[in-house]
Amino acid sequence: MALRAVLGAGALALLRPACGLELARSAQEGLPWYELHPGWGLDDWKKELNLSDPPKVAFRKATTDERKAHDEAKRQCSIAGIASRRGSSRAMENGTIAYLVTRRSDLAQLSESLPRLRHHFLRFWPYPVKIFVVSDSLRQYDNDTFDNLTCKKDTYHHSDGTVGWGRISCTPDNAPNKEEVRKVASESLGPDYDWEVAEFDLRVPEAVKVRPEWENCDRKHMGCGPRWENMNLCAAWPGIKPGYMHMNQFFTKVMYEQEALRKYKYYLRLDADFEFRETLKADPFCTMAQTGRKFIWQTRRHSGSPFCTQGLWEWFQKYQQDNGLTPQDPHFWRESSAMVNYVGYAGMGDLDFFRSEPVRKLAEAFNNDGRVYLNRWSDQTYYVLLFALFENHSAVGDIGFEWPDASWCHKCQHHGKFDPITGKTS
Ligand SMILES: *[C@@H]1O[C@H](CO)[C@@H](O)[C@H](O)[C@H]1NC(C)=O
Ligand SMILES: *[C@@H]1O[C@H](CO)[C@@H](O)[C@H](O)[C@H]1NC(C)=O
Ligand SMILES: *[C@@H]1O[C@H](CO)[C@@H](O)[C@H](O)[C@H]1NC(C)=O
Ligand SMILES: *[C@@H]1O[C@H](CO)[C@@H](O)[C@H](O)[C@H]1NC(C)=O
Ligand SMILES: *[C@@H]1O[C@H](CO)[C@@H](O)[C@H](O)[C@H]1NC(C)=O
Repeated sequence: MALRAVLGAGALALLRPACGLELARSAQEGLPWYELHPGWGLDDWKKELNLSDPPKVAFRKATTDERKAHDEAKRQCSIAGIASRRGSSRAMENGTIAYLVTRRSDLAQLSESLPRLRHHFLRFWPYPVKIFVVSDSLRQYDNDTFDNLTCKKDTYHHSDGTVGWGRISCTPDNAPNKEEVRKVASESLGPDYDWEVAEFDLRVPEAVKVRPEWENCDRKHMGCGPRWENMNLCAAWPGIKPGYMHMNQFFTKVMYEQEALRKYKYYLRLDADFEFRETLKADPFCTMAQTGRKFIWQTRRHSGSPFCTQGLWEWFQKYQQDNGLTPQDPHFWRESSAMVNYVGYAGMGDLDFFRSEPVRKLAEAFNNDGRVYLNRWSDQTYYVLLFALFENHSAVGDIGFEWPDASWCHKCQHHGKFDPITGKTS
């Protein structure tokens, strides 16, 4: 079966030919599909559905000119390079570092990553830090995700064959509030750095409908199933929670509307579980400005699951045609780019680009479609096609930050406490 034909079908249609009537009927009755094959991974589903791995777009090597410009920018933006400048050219760039903290675990990670940011980055380049947290309005709107007043429907499960409050432990995972995050920021960064905790709000797009089974499901019983109608394999995957989709809405749209970022031109997004482990050799905001790029990634790779970008390319193509737009980067304007990923844990962007009218209009339509929630479309692939549509290849180019492997880590191991002043761990 052609890949496109399979991907074009709805989730239920996908399941029916693969697994016979029994599964189709169960799916209609609202049983989560994964409970029927609890041991299956995405690869098993791909095999069952005869999905071959989608074609890969070949990553281009940087041209000699791009490499030269990049090396020169790095030299000028090194500590020595900046120190040797005179007058206003010694100034820092117009940028800010942004974090999103919505879970208890993010708060714990932040208390490890911020002291390291301070020592390895802010000590030389004291850019302001913005930490976005869930507003009270959002906490109440999606209290299943952001509050722990009761056990969440998504996390509630059987234990030892028992269902009931007494024996079930629901780990509290209410979104950290402003005061809690301020405390961590203050302990990690101290009074000498410019940091701010700002609240954000969002809503699930109207196209996304809650399943009545989920709505009526008592939290005391398991089997509430997927939350929304027509979630595909990627979105309904066990362990994927609505907070993940909210995050994808945040990084494709909501972040660029935030007042806290309004007065800056560049942002550097770092995830709470991303840490610097060595001092940076050059100011990344400076290299961004010098090379004139609009986006920089640290990791660019191919994503493994066609389910997570199901329909994404078709959406972009239709948007381009409906709006009479001319794609600007032929290299990435193609179906296989929907499988390219600028990994989210670290990335830098030009806020003026994201705030421009055409980009905001697209971001609005992209989120209103609903598949950020239903197929788990993410910012990581969104950026690739967004830039291919609106910008020349060189706006992102083929060179990322190039931070050496030893200088950073993601979901890092910790041994002892890091001192942001001395840089020593005790
Ligand atoms: C997948 O391939 C097998 C073997 O060729 C076939 O029996 C099965 O029906 C196919 N499944 C789908 C969903 O096309
Ligand atoms: C939780 O959210 C639901 C749905 O938005 C709402 O009806 C309910 O009042 C909220 N509960 C609390 C305690 O805020
Ligand atoms: C929610 O979790 C927090 C953090 O663990 C805890 O301090 C708080 O008491 C909990 N709130 C409720 C209503 O259970
Ligand atoms: C920084 O960039 C923003 C957005 O382009 C702009 O409004 C602001 O004036 C700039 N600030 C400085 C100091 O250049
Ligand atoms: C893209 O940018 C490069 C480098 O600045 C330039 O040489 C090229 O002409 C541009 N291409 C288009 C289509 O604008």
